[in-house]
Amino acid sequence: MEIVHTPVLTEETVQFLAPRGGGELMVDATLGEGGHSYLFLSRFPDLRIIGVDADSEIQKVARGRLKEFGDRIQFYSGWSQTFFAEFPPVGQKRPDTILVDLGISLFHYEKGNRGFSFRKDEALDMRLDTSAGESAADLIAALPEKDLADLLYQNAEERYSRRIARAIVEVRKQGTITTTGALAELVERVVPAPYRHGPIHPATRTFQALRIAVNGELSRLPELLEGGLRVLESGGRMGVISFHSLEDRIVKNFFREKNKDCTCPPEAPICRCEGRRAVNILTRKGIAPGEAEIQKNPASRSARLRVIEKVFAEDGQR
Ligand SMILES: C[S@@+](CC[C@H](N)C(=O)[O-])C[C@H]1O[C@@H](n2cnc3c(N)ncnc32)[C@H](O)[C@@H]1O
Repeated sequence: MEIVHTPVLTEETVQFLAPRGGGELMVDATLGEGGHSYLFLSRFPDLRIIGVDADSEIQKVARGRLKEFGDRIQFYSGWSQTFFAEFPPVGQKRPDTILVDLGISLFHYEKGNRGFSFRKDEALDMRLDTSAGESAADLIAALPEKDLADLLYQNAEERYSRRIARAIVEVRKQGTITTTGALAELVERVVPAPYRHGPIHPATRTFQALRIAVNGELSRLPELLEGGLRVLESGGRMGVISFHSLEDRIVKNFFREKNKDCTCPPEAPICRCEGRRAVNILTRKGIAPGEAEIQKNPASRSARLRVIEKVFAEDGQR
């Protein structure tokens, strides 16, 4: 079994999420090929993990890789927000730690066969969970031009979003765009020459924006964070690794809101919300990889780790 993804910020993750007592349970909410889980299970022999992933294909890889740990690792196939919403299974203790390593894995670009990469000519799908929902081809076949432009701009800050959306709608009049090759070629054709020959492939942001939309990566993130925090044991820790500024902003703002003692409007004469902060923030600034890690794994460059500790359970559990 070949592993292609290199886990990021591993030592930093261990520093914050290492067990602080015996018999701890961790939820790896984005298991991927199991890189982080492998490290934690190897280092902490008393730790158990539940590994969650929306993509059943990549989970097969993780199952093989983590076999040696026997029943110290259990698997859940599905979205982590669904896992948290269904929690707890009967008799299950709350997790002491939760790790969320957002986005997709190198596995998806290299072996996904689902159109994540513009460097390969594949069907334009991009769904992590192929059992439901709309593919990228469905999205670009159906969205009105303005919505398409907004999607490209809002999800990836694509500066030529309007031009690209207009070109997609023009091409649509003759037929459908169903392959990565056709979409990449269209983007290359309509963007200005300096952008075409710039530091990144001109279709990078278009592909990123579509992938984010298809998998609801930004829209579902608050639900994922809320769900994780709800099931986390009091005093437990949740670490979130994000890979672009839009994602990181959602995480940062979510943690800041949960760190407030009172959420009454500023004009309220007295506090009526009886607010007590739900979390302490353990990383004031997001933790970035060091130069050595970036050199070894350039894909880690944009990773940011933010960690909180739960101090108060909103459902009354302490
Ligand atoms: C960056 S990779 C994780 C890599 C992993 N930490 C490792 O070391 O191999 C993210 C993984 O999470 C999955 N994923 C992303 N968002 C998810 C979500 N909301 N629920 C469940 N799985 C998700 C993706 O399918 C992908 O396999």
